[in-house]
Amino acid sequence: MSDKNLNPIILFQNWYEKASEKEINDPNAMCLSTVDKNNCPHSRMVLLKGFDESGFRFFTNYQSNKSIDIEHNINVALNFHWKSLQRQIRIEGLIEKLNSDQSDEYYGSRHYMSRIGAWASDQSRPLKDRKELEEKIEIYKKKYPNENNVPRPPHWGGFIVKPKKFEFWQDMPHRIHQRDIFELNNKEWFKYNLNP
Ligand SMILES: Cc1cc2nc3c(=O)[nH]c(=O)nc-3n(C[C@H](O)[C@H](O)[C@H](O)COP(=O)(O)O)c2cc1C
Repeated sequence: MSDKNLNPIILFQNWYEKASEKEINDPNAMCLSTVDKNNCPHSRMVLLKGFDESGFRFFTNYQSNKSIDIEHNINVALNFHWKSLQRQIRIEGLIEKLNSDQSDEYYGSRHYMSRIGAWASDQSRPLKDRKELEEKIEIYKKKYPNENNVPRPPHWGGFIVKPKKFEFWQDMPHRIHQRDIFELNNKEWFKYNLNP
């Protein structure tokens, strides 16, 4: 089952570039699935903010439900579905936190209001009403009025998913689709196909 010459990161890049040309919005949107301490799965969309041989990066609140799941179980899955291409890419791997420099760098690139929002939003926790959030936003705008000096909240930062397995799925006529799998074995990628 092997074709050692193909690199799934390069293939991902190729498909991602095509999706970036064709998708109406958010070609970088991906479904992230985590598993909680009771072995129940949870899925939600996040935005891919970078990828390379080391993995796939996104940013979030470290006290959110997804982050609590990750504290219990570092096995995660990602899913990209690009309707415009009729393609899906599934990625499975292990997740870890990015270092603080990487999180600082991305946080610093965000719009002022997004940085304020990261302070104000107690992500995944109950909210009485919209007003409660708006009041917190005003409090943090007063606390950090200088757009060039909003520190990154300690509870906000990035994760990287280090892939162990990819599936590249391409729609084909009459639902006889193409499925190409890449699996990591001793630091080498092995490729094989699956029945649709
Ligand atoms: C297209 C799209 C992109 C999103 N991107 C992010 C993201 O990059 N980071 C994030 O924390 N939440 C993002 N969200 C919100 C999440 O889907 C989710 O509501 C939130 O992270 C809380 O999830 P949790 O309670 O499971 O932790 C996005 C939602 C959508 C629909």
